[in-house]
Amino acid sequence: MSEILKVENLTKVFNVGKDADLYAVNNVSFTLGKGETLGLVGESGSGKTTVGRCVLRLIEPTTGKVFLNGVDITNLKDKELRKLRSEMQLVFQDPFGSLNPRLTVTQVINEPLFLHGEQKQARQKRVDEMMELVGLETDVGNYYPADLTASEQQRVGIARALATKPAFVVLDEPTSMLDPSARLELIDVLKDIQTELGTSFIFISHDLTSVARISHRVAIMYLGHIIEVAPTEAILETQKHPYSKALLSAVLFPDPSKKLDPFVIEGEIPTAINPKPGCPLAGRCPYHQEKCDGVTPDLLAVAENHLSRCIYWDNIN
Ligand SMILES: Nc1ncnc2c1ncn2[C@@H]1O[C@H](COP(=O)(O)OP(=O)(O)O)[C@@H](O)[C@H]1O
Ligand SMILES: [Mg+2]
Repeated sequence: MSEILKVENLTKVFNVGKDADLYAVNNVSFTLGKGETLGLVGESGSGKTTVGRCVLRLIEPTTGKVFLNGVDITNLKDKELRKLRSEMQLVFQDPFGSLNPRLTVTQVINEPLFLHGEQKQARQKRVDEMMELVGLETDVGNYYPADLTASEQQRVGIARALATKPAFVVLDEPTSMLDPSARLELIDVLKDIQTELGTSFIFISHDLTSVARISHRVAIMYLGHIIEVAPTEAILETQKHPYSKALLSAVLFPDPSKKLDPFVIEGEIPTAINPKPGCPLAGRCPYHQEKCDGVTPDLLAVAENHLSRCIYWDNIN
């Protein structure tokens, strides 16, 4: 699989007060292949949105690098970045809030094509194609966002993001405002689009069932770190980080064979302000040993394509 995106040692620090540095994203590295979906999971505040926004260069990473198709885009200036906008797009959590209420559906989907300099005829054709791909009837084109259901609004958001045939799209909690059946439908729409267009997705969600349904690989975040990443089947089968084990055991997957024994990690997520070196889970981890303090472990390969930050991964499961 050819590599669309490579993220190297990405860190984003927000200064939130005198001598208070909040490490929203802490030394995160991953790759994304062509036509691949990487699921980014973690509790609220774990840094998922910040990763997505740094990768899209909507906010500036503090350190680290982002490569798009092998080109380092970390330090591109606005003008150069604008040329790349059509290659990397975002789908928002709140579909209605992200659509201009004064534009019709057709106008919304047309806008990025116009900005990209497409001719009128090509734009019309593309808008029709996109509406069909996301499963919207032609007459919906004349409606305004307020006339649509949340699911239809999100389909418009997806059509807009994909109209310029981007290399990759960050989908940030795209199904969280939808009811469960609409959620599954939308995920299947996304999968069909991916098959048709070969687009790569970063699918951000705290809903593991959705993530498992769409992702080829899953990366689990805790306190700004990716603590484990593996192919979806592998990580559902066996978790090599205690935090992943706790996160997955709390979920009832539709497939009962995937059900894990309950595994609870006690205590609250600590603050990401001025974090101490060492494993981010050290203070709460039942497997904790002296070696976990002091040095933050790297992601280690525990099996093919399966990486964990836990140095005692072979004690788990
Ligand atoms: N602009 C900001 N200024 C200060 N702190 C921020 C800012 N954006 C995000 N954060 C903090 O960074 C951490 C990660 O946030 P976020 O990426 O939104 O997490 P998630 O999307 O996983 O819920 C949180 O502690 C959040 O409060
Ligand atoms: Mg978020």
